[in-house]
Amino acid sequence: MKFQKPKGTKDILPKDIHKWHFVEKTIREATKLFNFSEIRTPTFEYTELFKRGVGSETDIVGKEMYTFVDKGGESITLKPEGTAPVMRAYLENSLSAESPLHKLYYITSMFRYEKPQAGRYREHSQFGGEIIGSDSIDTDVELILLAKEVYNRCGINNFKLKINSIGKPSERKTYVNALTDYLKKHFNRLSEESKKRLGTNPLRILDSKSPDDLIITKEAPKIIEHLTKDSRNRFDLVLYELTRLGVNYEIDFRLVRGLDYYTDTTFEFISSDLGAQDALGGGGRYDGLIELLGGKPTPGVGFGSGIERLIIVAEKNGFTFGEPSSPKVYFIALNSSAKEIAFKIMMELRKKNISCETDLLVRSMKAQMREANKIGSDYVFIIGDDELKNQKGILKKMSDGSQQNVEFDKLREYLN
Ligand code: HAM
Repeated sequence: MKFQKPKGTKDILPKDIHKWHFVEKTIREATKLFNFSEIRTPTFEYTELFKRGVGSETDIVGKEMYTFVDKGGESITLKPEGTAPVMRAYLENSLSAESPLHKLYYITSMFRYEKPQAGRYREHSQFGGEIIGSDSIDTDVELILLAKEVYNRCGINNFKLKINSIGKPSERKTYVNALTDYLKKHFNRLSEESKKRLGTNPLRILDSKSPDDLIITKEAPKIIEHLTKDSRNRFDLVLYELTRLGVNYEIDFRLVRGLDYYTDTTFEFISSDLGAQDALGGGGRYDGLIELLGGKPTPGVGFGSGIERLIIVAEKNGFTFGEPSSPKVYFIALNSSAKEIAFKIMMELRKKNISCETDLLVRSMKAQMREANKIGSDYVFIIGDDELKNQKGILKKMSDGSQQNVEFDKLREYLN
């Protein structure tokens, strides 16, 4: 029987892993520059957390969760997103008692039962940042700057930042009524999906991609017109600060995002290099979420960004992610005594952080040389009968072919 990976998943092979290492390192460097700390939460949570936190009517919770009942009869869900779990951990571990403000980031797998297509997986890797404890507009801006920093460091400069404000829940309520009244008038022309959504989650009709829906929603009332003065001012301040810092953006009144916890600012980074799934990352404020999960009212803002999509866009822009790693020196040992010596020297070199490799397939000298070339080692060190006798091996530099005899116990000095 031939096994295949489950639909919508991927293998990251050794030839590509350096890209992932590069991106993960970049995320860790950038988050350090912004003084974020890493948080790791479990791969699965009790299902109720997502129902409560993300919202039962959202696509993520309603259609896409990997949920099962475990042997203890508990309903468990593989995490489809990172914000609700981080807020759960924040509350459960009383992080607010340690400090009034937390800047947290994560890099983790997320699971969503979606229809796989380019850039859309059933298991994807996401990095996210969350700032908990402040409703200052500086926190909205700080997160946008963090995402931008990571993208720029991965050679991505051609994204578009779309931004909107969806206000407070009470403002949204009046807006949803106005929107519903408007959409009802055009009910017959709405797509089938949007007809269903009108009764459950009319806001989401705004980000429908159906051409019919797009024509109708173009003239729909805009949420921004239903914001109170305070909310509108807040949004203007975010925009003012972004402009002041030279961050380009485009206001998009359709940007309501697909998760229920958002309040005020919502944003998305869009890339035309991605095709239909064009969101490189997205996020927004969620000032009511912690209270919803049983905590004291605590403001928060965050974003998440798919690493697969980031790599796709970086590659389309010709970014190289550095070179795959290769050993510094490849040992060619031509008999069993030479091999014994080679392993001893390799052990010493590895202790000194010098990477080494040798032939493990008992190949000919020519084949070993070819292998050293193929894996890109900087040097080969050849040990045969004569070399054993003289206690000196032949050190060959691969870049120019130059070679010299080097005593076994002096090799390290030559490699430095
Ligand atoms: P999201 O927009 O659902 O937000 O996902 C964030 C990002 O994850 C997307 O922009 C996309 O790059 C990537 N992504 C999502 N689903 C997939 C998929 N099936 N395949 C590949 N990539 C995908 C959230 O998850 C929020 N928790 C973000 C957030 C954090 N908001 C506040 N804090």
